[in-house]
Amino acid sequence: MNISIIGSGYVGLVSGACFAELGNHVICADNDIKKIAGLKKGIIPIYEPGLEELIAGNLKNKRLKFTSSIREAVKSSEIIFIAVGTPSLGNGEADLTGVENVARVIAQNMDGYRLIVEKSTVPVETCAWIKKTIATYIKKKHKFDVVSNPEFLREGSAISDFTHPDRIVVGAESQKAGQVMTQLYQPLNRPILITNIKSAELIKHASNAFLATKISFINALSRICDKVGADVKEVAQGMGLDARIGRHFLHAGIGYGGSCFPKDLDAFITIAGNLGYDFKMLKAVRDTNQEQKEFVLQKIKEALWIIKDKTIAVLGLAFKSNTDDLRNSPSIDLIKLLLQEGAKIRAYDPRAMEKAKNILNDVIFCKDPYQASQGADCLIIATEWNEFKELDFLKLKKILQRALIVDGRNIYDPKQLKKLGFTYVGIGHGRE
Ligand code: UGA
Repeated sequence: MNISIIGSGYVGLVSGACFAELGNHVICADNDIKKIAGLKKGIIPIYEPGLEELIAGNLKNKRLKFTSSIREAVKSSEIIFIAVGTPSLGNGEADLTGVENVARVIAQNMDGYRLIVEKSTVPVETCAWIKKTIATYIKKKHKFDVVSNPEFLREGSAISDFTHPDRIVVGAESQKAGQVMTQLYQPLNRPILITNIKSAELIKHASNAFLATKISFINALSRICDKVGADVKEVAQGMGLDARIGRHFLHAGIGYGGSCFPKDLDAFITIAGNLGYDFKMLKAVRDTNQEQKEFVLQKIKEALWIIKDKTIAVLGLAFKSNTDDLRNSPSIDLIKLLLQEGAKIRAYDPRAMEKAKNILNDVIFCKDPYQASQGADCLIIATEWNEFKELDFLKLKKILQRALIVDGRNIYDPKQLKKLGFTYVGIGHGRE
């Protein structure tokens, strides 16, 4: 099939590359000329495992093209995905300017039937607005369908999430649109759920809100575990073995971050509020997440007593492993709290250092975990990168001023570290 994807951010690039890999002809468009110029040469603006190779291969076999002309993209494909950003407006609402803009350009450049697929995370009823906008700006009375096809990929595992999704959700009004979408996703051989458009739009926000709820639940529970000396990992395991609960997204830590959960939760709370429903449960999820960083700060204080003038090594800056994304990273929030307390921060991240230099002042960026630990009074694990799981602890012990590890992601075995002579502070397994 001939497909255009408008918006070459995370979702757009990954979807475009994966659809091309499945044998389709894909044009990825973006109005960022510099970004498109780089992509044409195979320069990827984000770090996502496997994406560079996938794009390079499909550029070479000419199944994937990049353009800065949205007009060109609209003219050359019958299926057009909208995958532009929908950032937060700051008042909780999502900024839909980009989506509206693309809908207008599509309307003004359509020269025949088009299937418009809304993939960006948007509030319920956005597809109805896209439909109205196209109908208003269209020049000739060409037929078109609008469908909602939310994306569920995660940063860091985006390609396998796209190619092996638990489900594909398509909100469609016409049978034709549903059939085309089914045909497009057929090669993945995964369950396809066809719903009405508003249900599909809601499934996206509801899923992210529910996952965030699981994380805040286990983080709240970690505080109880700390108080009574239970182990939150064991509790999560015991709960997760119940198929009705499930074992995923019950990993306690320093709180969730990223470009999705915080923004989507705000948006969903606002949407509910505008509809006359005060979604108190989600407000509590958001508050618990905020408090979790302060809870970790408190633990550091308890271990160090005075933070002022202490040197603290922070391993991990990205909001999760396998990405260089720093948006709403709990690690960055924690560093800012520590700086306010007067700490001296030495930081390291395998991928996110360059981006971090633009947003963090007064931080010493180091070339590896050992350089970061030099003379530090405390070592904090803020992102669960695999390379932190295999550190040389004997070497670390010699380098650190004080053998204190605050494991914000619960990646270590406390017994093993204690045996090596470290004071170990984890999330939710009792006070030492
Ligand atoms: C999330 C959803 O998982 C995707 O399904 C969705 O498509 C995406 O948002 C989106 O809306 O675009 P993402 O934000 O990339 O994906 O990453 P996640 O793996 O969900 O992690 C989000 C945050 O939760 C991270 O800070 C992570 O460290 C944290 N987390 C996750 C926990 O603290 N505990 C867990 O058990 C799981």
